Amino acid sequence: MANDLNDHVGIPGRPFTPEGIQADGFGPLAAFTALVAELDRVVVGYVFFGPGYNTDVAARSMWLHDLFVTPAARGRGVGYGLMAAVAAETVRIGCVSLEWGVHTANAGALEFYRRLGAAGTETRILSVAGDRLRALADAAP
Ligand SMILES: CC(C)(COP(=O)(O)OP(=O)(O)OC[C@H]1O[C@@H](n2cnc3c(N)ncnc32)[C@H](O)[C@@H]1OP(=O)(O)O)[C@@H](O)C(=O)NCCC(=O)NCCS
Repeated sequence: MANDLNDHVGIPGRPFTPEGIQADGFGPLAAFTALVAELDRVVVGYVFFGPGYNTDVAARSMWLHDLFVTPAARGRGVGYGLMAAVAAETVRIGCVSLEWGVHTANAGALEFYRRLGAAGTETRILSVAGDRLRALADAAP
């Protein structure tokens, strides 16, 4: 499903493997927490989320990495249920906000989030990777 989400937003490579999920999502240094949603005992959706920090108000936040529902299961409240489950965990551990990024071309997701009551700013999410990341790291004092 995580590879299908990448396909959906045009990210190539299908990088997720069971071994990678095992290595990155479990154990004391897990990079994310995952929840899956089931309909009739079949897994039909997932979220990845983890700790963030809201520097606007200097308080803990939750960062949503990924949300996906398989096409056949859409429109039945599964995505809403997953978002509600992450919101419950966000509140439970004392975070003031739940945040995420969305591709601006992903009109369906934008409408889904609008119905949740989500509001956005024109912030862009940038990244540095590969040789450029190494060059920046090499410049560390
Ligand atoms: C976005 C996504 C997770 C929504 O999941 P879902 O299970 O279909 O959503 P729900 O059934 O819980 O819908 C909740 C509400 O959003 C609305 N909604 C959901 N998808 C919508 C869409 N594509 N366009 C318009 N409204 C939509 C529903 O009608 C419902 O509204 P209501 O509460 O007023 O009835 C799912 O379509 C998906 O996996 N899309 C592809 C992956 C993706 O874009 N993920 C987000 C990456 S940022």
